[in-house]
Amino acid sequence: MTAIRFNSVAEIVVDSGIDLHLDLAPTGSRRSALGRALRDAIATGRLQPGTRLPSYRALAADLGVARNTVAETYGELVSEGWLDARRGSGTRVAHRGAASVRAASSTVRPELRPEHDLRPGRPDQSAFPRAAWMAAARRAVSGAPVDAFGPGDPHGRLELRRALAGYLARTRGVRSDPRRILVCSGFSQTAQILTSVVSGPFAVESYGLPFHRRLFDTSGPTVPIGVDEHGGRTHEPIEAAALVLTPSHQFPTGVSLHPQRRTAAVDWARATDGLVVEDDYDGEFRYDRTPVGAMQGLDPDRVLYAGSISKSLSPGVRVGWMAVPEHLLDPILDAKGVREATVSALDQLTLADLITTGAYDRHVRAMRLKYRRRRDALVDALRERVPEIGTMGIAAGLQAVLTLPPGSESDVLAGASEAGLAVEGLGWFRHPSAAEVESDVMPDGILVGFSAPSDRAFPRAVETLVSVLELTTRGRRRG
Ligand SMILES: Cc1ncc(COP(=O)(O)O)c(C=O)c1O
Repeated sequence: MTAIRFNSVAEIVVDSGIDLHLDLAPTGSRRSALGRALRDAIATGRLQPGTRLPSYRALAADLGVARNTVAETYGELVSEGWLDARRGSGTRVAHRGAASVRAASSTVRPELRPEHDLRPGRPDQSAFPRAAWMAAARRAVSGAPVDAFGPGDPHGRLELRRALAGYLARTRGVRSDPRRILVCSGFSQTAQILTSVVSGPFAVESYGLPFHRRLFDTSGPTVPIGVDEHGGRTHEPIEAAALVLTPSHQFPTGVSLHPQRRTAAVDWARATDGLVVEDDYDGEFRYDRTPVGAMQGLDPDRVLYAGSISKSLSPGVRVGWMAVPEHLLDPILDAKGVREATVSALDQLTLADLITTGAYDRHVRAMRLKYRRRRDALVDALRERVPEIGTMGIAAGLQAVLTLPPGSESDVLAGASEAGLAVEGLGWFRHPSAAEVESDVMPDGILVGFSAPSDRAFPRAVETLVSVLELTTRGRRRG
């Protein structure tokens, strides 16, 4: 345990320094330890809003770490809203971030309302098909059998499971039937359920959503597998009971899992009696090529397929599904409990109606067109104004990875924060215990969610992004 004294020159905390106890020993990198400690200090109020943090150089010297480690950590916390970086006044604890997370644990990120929102993975909330949903809800409620108003069944409504079996077979190549489809509130619930069904650790991609990772961590620390331009490195040894993959569109890098890697994952599951969990979170949104089908079709007894409406409709409605291997049906139902505890029967019936009437397909088609146009506009703006910035993973999905000059991720994040622009740094998605081998480290980059803003807000958000990138790269060229 190392104790660091922050000689704070805060506007608010004036009379004393603040001790930050930083546990550098057990797991993860120094950067993640520093990030954790700072979030914790802010969340618990030990670092007050407005408090100025030591300079990169001073803190790096105190800790005996590279200046970059501190700079990257600050950049990460700026992008998460914990810190504010303003030219001329250093890095300070943010007012909005600290206020909204004071009572929360250090692992909870503040919910921000940025001026320009390009956070990844969010559909355009203003495009929710209210009229179609209301028409479907009206039909669903008036036509609902009486038992829909009784206690829910943990399988989910049969009407929805039938609709999903047809839809998933038709659009994603999922091999299933209504009996093996279970309704849930989304991938997060799938993850929670699986941790009580699968005994042993989960292997996850070395880049992924930290809050999903934390759910799987409850079965023992997750085991990272490397990610490269062909997706997760499933051909390498995997010491886990289950393997969680995003095969259609790796999150966050956007690559799709190579066919040989798909086969390798299934072979691994067969050889070890393991389970592959396929997170097909945005499979419908593919722009440049014919859709990449689900890998579940390779072996429905070894691959559990999971999806939700979080990208296609809304992450707020909370409806998802699983196509479950036969042997896991009963354990999963047991884990769900005797009643459906999370998803409203009326929402299930409404979604079933949307799917069977074709309104869901129409909405997805319209959104695919909208997002493809936005992606094209983003790529054009980058090409024209900052041609040195590369892109990755843009053939599908709701976000693009912009690859940046080495060492510039935290500068770009700080610049974005200053401009009121919310994007995410690629480094934030990296598993804290991922190997530091070169082939497993992604370049510096940011994730840009081109789907997040409304149509009206999108052009200004892109303009702001491009200006930030111009400024940052110009600054670096000069420097
Ligand atoms: C990688 C990934 N998987 C799955 C999901 C969907 O999660 P849920 O269905 O719990 O909303 C998301 C959405 O945030 C995601 O980014």
